[in-house]
Amino acid sequence: MPPLKRILSQARIRRRVRELAAQLRADYGEQRPVLVGCLKGAFVFLADLVRQVGVPLQVDFIMVSSYGMGTTSKGEITVLKDVTTDLTGRHVVFVDDIIDSGLTLQRVREHLLSRGPASVRVCALLARERVLAEGAAIDYLGFPVPEGFVVGYGIDYAEDYRQLPDIYVLEGEG
Ligand code: IMP
Ligand code: MG
Repeated sequence: MPPLKRILSQARIRRRVRELAAQLRADYGEQRPVLVGCLKGAFVFLADLVRQVGVPLQVDFIMVSSYGMGTTSKGEITVLKDVTTDLTGRHVVFVDDIIDSGLTLQRVREHLLSRGPASVRVCALLARERVLAEGAAIDYLGFPVPEGFVVGYGIDYAEDYRQLPDIYVLEGEG
């Protein structure tokens, strides 16, 4: 196992998740948004987030393939598991772990928009500084992160490290 460098503590993540939840509460009130988590990486973030929002909402999941067992993007996505909620006229929030190139976000947004929702916004725990500089439309962002492969808090490297409560960078990767 390669060495890990901690970049975000669970206490810091918890504080930021509470702030994001407060923003969602203020923006959506009683509109019952559908939070669509991107499997598998967003499962811990989504679970913590929904318990802090404090207004009615629904949860669904989508699973897309863009990465294999390694760290390199294949440049395309396939919907492996689709949402089962009828999104017609609904306010949708796509919840992802990390926006890297922005390709997954772009494709999933198109996919969700094709279901006739009232709105689609994006909530990401992490996003690369690079993609933010390019102007990626992320409505709710936890933390910007520099290059380097991140793991922990639901985020994996080849299916390992998801269970770690803090977020780390894999030394010697990415
Ligand atoms: P994008 O399509 O390039 O934006 O990639 C987004 C997806 O790739 C994320 O939702 C992650 O599942 C995965 N990913 C990108 N960077 C990392 C990383 O540093 N660690 C773990 N997964 C990553
Ligand atoms: Mg993901």
